[in-house]
Amino acid sequence: MHEADPTASTLHGLAGGGPRPERPDWTIAQDWDRYTAQEHAVWKTLFERQSRLLPGRACAAFVRGMAELPLCADRIPDFEELSEVLMQRTGWQVVAVPGLVPDDVFFEHLAHRRFPAGQFIRKAHELDYLEEPDVFHDVFGHVPMLMNPVMAGFIQAYGQGGLRAKSLGMLEQLARVYWYTVEFGLVLEEGAPRIYGAGIVSSSTETRFSVEDDSPNRVRFALERVMRTRYRIDDFQETYFVLDHLDDLLALAQVDFAPSYARVRGAAEHAPGELLPGDTVLARGTGRYHARKRQQVTA
Ligand SMILES: [Fe+2]
Repeated sequence: MHEADPTASTLHGLAGGGPRPERPDWTIAQDWDRYTAQEHAVWKTLFERQSRLLPGRACAAFVRGMAELPLCADRIPDFEELSEVLMQRTGWQVVAVPGLVPDDVFFEHLAHRRFPAGQFIRKAHELDYLEEPDVFHDVFGHVPMLMNPVMAGFIQAYGQGGLRAKSLGMLEQLARVYWYTVEFGLVLEEGAPRIYGAGIVSSSTETRFSVEDDSPNRVRFALERVMRTRYRIDDFQETYFVLDHLDDLLALAQVDFAPSYARVRGAAEHAPGELLPGDTVLARGTGRYHARKRQQVTA
């Protein structure tokens, strides 16, 4: 099965049925000492698999962030150790949560440069399938990019903008921006698409698919286009949006989304695989992968 990052299913919606944590901000102790040898072994399997795949596919900022963090194959990282390095670099820290958290709580954390990371790790028999983001997705996928000042500022701005979007009834549109950047974003480096999205870098299959397969579209990122585009939460993306430079996120973090919300409010939505006349298409996908999936469903 494919690893789908679920952080935006209803965006960062409620953890499924579990008890609400005692603290109002939903954080829990990481309890690092309680990870078992099997859990560390799952981390190691995932870490080594991804580390082999990422050279030449992940963007330079991700590779640099990874090299400068206290992350290694042998053990699930200690959030306090990570936070120490991260805090010095970009003022962020990593806090443990039991799984998905309510939107308001999520935004509040991001707005204060706290990244909520799942405390648990997936089971050895479900390496490629996740119902909620675990420590591998959240730490391996997200934290290296939080070492980058541009991404650090962008995700904080997203948290600040989240509550406003909610009050305006535009949460879904804002969530699409997060989805197609922070989770599934690509960026051009030396003319070729490279990965910076956490949903991709934490998935072995999508790492290859996103930058090498001829099935998906690769389209230059455009804010309102993305706000109107639905996405896949259960499978690979049909379209990846590509930044010219990572620094484009700097401008995006500073722009007032209100005029864009006004323009896209009530406008037609686009299907995940649809190409539009105004698109700058870097690669027109064959759509083969998803067409085959649809055939299998109807057969
Ligand atoms: Fe994520």
